[in-house]
Amino acid sequence: MAQEKTYTMIKPDGVRNRHIGEIVNRFERAGLDVERMELGMVTMDQAKANYKEHEGKPFYDGLIEYITSGPVVKMVVSGDGAVAKVRTLMGATNPADAAPGTIRGDFGLIMDENVIHGSDSPESAEREIAIFFG
Ligand code: RTP
Ligand code: MG
Repeated sequence: MAQEKTYTMIKPDGVRNRHIGEIVNRFERAGLDVERMELGMVTMDQAKANYKEHEGKPFYDGLIEYITSGPVVKMVVSGDGAVAKVRTLMGATNPADAAPGTIRGDFGLIMDENVIHGSDSPESAEREIAIFFG
């Protein structure tokens, strides 16, 4: 597998429910390196840029409102096949479908507040790292 970087972000519910340490621990146990990490708010511009592909969908407004509603942890994570590895650790988008042992399966409750975001391709990762870290 290729050495990759991915963008991943612990969403407001993950921070509020105190899952930061557990999630970072899972990344490290999976052999991934945390290269950058910052706790802070997502600006409206960053939210819209990150979720541009979903503009116009019924859940879009709620998604933007939610991701800007409280502090998040923004991270750049690297390693062999980092993009897919983080998606596997995250689990399915809907926590109700996410397997036990995945981050969403263990800590997620509802589709709209599903603990964590992760880039879905190396191209998305590059775009998202630029949005959040310049
Ligand atoms: P994310 O971008 O947040 O990492 O999640 P994802 O790739 O697994 O899912 P994506 O399709 O990109 O959707 C982004 C977020 O929008 C919410 N969503 N709601 N009600 C719905 O049908 C619906 N579909 C998506 C979820 O909170 C999802 O994380
Ligand atoms: Mg996505």
